[in-house]
Amino acid sequence: MRALDQDYPILRVGSLAKSYGDRKVLHDVDFSLHRGEVVAFLGANGSGKSTTLKCVMGLETPDSGSVRLHGRDLQTLSGRSLRIARRPIAMVFQKIHLVPRRTALENVCAGALGRLSGSASVSPLFFGRELQEEAMAALQRVGMADRAHELAGRLSGGQAQRVAVARALCQRAEVLLADEPVSALDPAAAEEVMILLHDLAHEENLAVAAVLHQPDLALRYADRAIGLLNGRIEYSGPVQGLTNGLRERLYSAKAVAA
Ligand SMILES: Nc1ncnc2c1ncn2[C@@H]1O[C@H](COP(=O)(O)OP(=O)(O)OP(=O)(O)O)[C@@H](O)[C@H]1O
Ligand SMILES: [Mg+2]
Repeated sequence: MRALDQDYPILRVGSLAKSYGDRKVLHDVDFSLHRGEVVAFLGANGSGKSTTLKCVMGLETPDSGSVRLHGRDLQTLSGRSLRIARRPIAMVFQKIHLVPRRTALENVCAGALGRLSGSASVSPLFFGRELQEEAMAALQRVGMADRAHELAGRLSGGQAQRVAVARALCQRAEVLLADEPVSALDPAAAEEVMILLHDLAHEENLAVAAVLHQPDLALRYADRAIGLLNGRIEYSGPVQGLTNGLRERLYSAKAVAA
């Protein structure tokens, strides 16, 4: 593994806890993300992977704990200052949220809306030439430049996922949270998206966290793994530590039933 800026994680999550009603679904979740690495989140259905990423993204509010981006605790911020502070974080999902009646290029341009004032709608009227060029560069980066003017609704799952990643690049994300980015893709498309995520981390210095259901993909494309078991971190370390015993624990009947 190449050298990381170990002293300065871009994102540091501390003692995250979250309950839904009486059900505590995250207990004391701690981890850091560094630029230049892919961290795979593994664990059985219901183990808390999505909830963890949603708490980081601000789509869920944790009961306690801290989410520090560039050393700044996001939990202490609110309103506009929180939105601005959180801009370097982008999330892509298994179910891809593109606007189907807009082109790939327009969807990618929309990634920049958060940082451009006054343009609250996904309308090409708002997208100036400079932004369109940046969006084209992002599409080029994900290998989708030739489909820039295709309606997003006409793209295959793998193509749409790559456009979603391009949108995150146009947002100028430094941290990319990907919740099952390849679960809906065929094996070849899944490999392509994993190669893209790996390259974005290693060549463009992003910090990438990806929820995966395939430990083998984690072994090939991630640097570190975090294994969740019933809302607690069971493993945090290099992907090489994903032994058969650990995999059995993470995906045992007890883990899945909990
Ligand atoms: N909005 C919600 N309301 C109530 N419970 C929820 C909600 N979202 C998640 N949960 C519960 O929190 C626990 C963790 O869910 P989470 O979606 O984080 O799991 P996961 O590890 O992402 O699972 P999967 O692999 O199935 O996507 C589960 O028990 C789930 O039922
Ligand atoms: Mg999930």
